[in-house]
Amino acid sequence: MTTQAESRPAAASGTFALGGDLPVHRLGYGAMQITGEGVWGDPKDPDEAVRVLRRAVELGVTFIDTADSYGPFVSEMLIRKALHPYADDVVIATKGGLTRPGPGDWRPVGRPEYLRQQLELSLRHLGLDRIDLYQLHRIDPKVPLADQLGELALLRQEGKIRHIGLSQVTVAQLEQARKIVDIVSVQNLYNLATRDSEDLLEYAEANDIAFIPWFPMATGELARPGGVLDTFAREDASPSQLALAWLLRHSPVLLPIPGTSSVAHLEENIAAATISLTDAEYAALSEVSAPAPRARRFRLPKLSRN
Ligand SMILES: NC(=O)c1ccc[n+]([C@@H]2O[C@H](COP(=O)([O-])OP(=O)(O)OC[C@H]3O[C@@H](n4cnc5c(N)ncnc54)[C@H](OP(=O)(O)O)[C@@H]3O)[C@@H](O)[C@H]2O)c1
Repeated sequence: MTTQAESRPAAASGTFALGGDLPVHRLGYGAMQITGEGVWGDPKDPDEAVRVLRRAVELGVTFIDTADSYGPFVSEMLIRKALHPYADDVVIATKGGLTRPGPGDWRPVGRPEYLRQQLELSLRHLGLDRIDLYQLHRIDPKVPLADQLGELALLRQEGKIRHIGLSQVTVAQLEQARKIVDIVSVQNLYNLATRDSEDLLEYAEANDIAFIPWFPMATGELARPGGVLDTFAREDASPSQLALAWLLRHSPVLLPIPGTSSVAHLEENIAAATISLTDAEYAALSEVSAPAPRARRFRLPKLSRN
């Protein structure tokens, strides 16, 4: 007989309640890779992208992260095609606030009327009446934060957004934002080799705010056979699984969203939820990332993909 851990392994990652009332399995899926080169246009294999999304839900993933700017709109429309009508327990988190003049080009625009338009487009592309988690993709430095978040608060009052999140922020920005509106999540670059946002993670943990680490596998560097985690790999734990298992163990508020365009990689990644690290493995993996001289040996990807 198949056990739940075998058929819906994502459930083994545990549950986090976004905003205290919206439970998701902690190990999710990031839907940026199901677009073309430079996060622009259609993916190479749109049928495989649909299979990836459907398989993710079969495997127990209940948290899918996307953005209007992935494609733009390509990722949201594939999610709708693959998963609509959505299962009751599936939460689609999207973002707005980054414009896309072309491949690999991302520019923040936080003018209230633009954010409202993008929210309306996301509702249409995802086939939803309300976005469960709407994240401000970047704070626009040219627009007062109160105007950007004020508009999202208004949209929440209108019933079009359930919860509001931020992306790529400092502790000071999060504190400032929380004076304007309730913030249930932050999403920053974070993985075991890049821990600049450790202070934000501590703040999130102390305040029951979800921390969604983007680039959880350093855009594949940590998953790569022959890569830096190879020496830690076990017969039953591949490098990508170690990177994800480390995040799951590191903090209960971490909600990793590994991205992939392939069903085989998805299955490997989601199985990470069932892997337990020994204390010695956890300590050794933490050591890999912590001291600067070792961490600097990683060639981290250029962060042109926001
Ligand atoms: N808020 C922000 O500003 C921001 C910025 C960037 C990303 N994000 C979010 O974070 C999510 C994750 O980021 P990401 O997808 O760019 O990076 P990632 O999850 O760190 O890594 C994805 C890369 O790793 C490869 N990969 C995945 N599983 C693998 C495996 N088992 N073995 C070998 N290679 C593997 C993928 O290639 P294959 O397709 O070949 O598997 C892809 O190139 C995105 O989908 C997006 O939702 C947010």
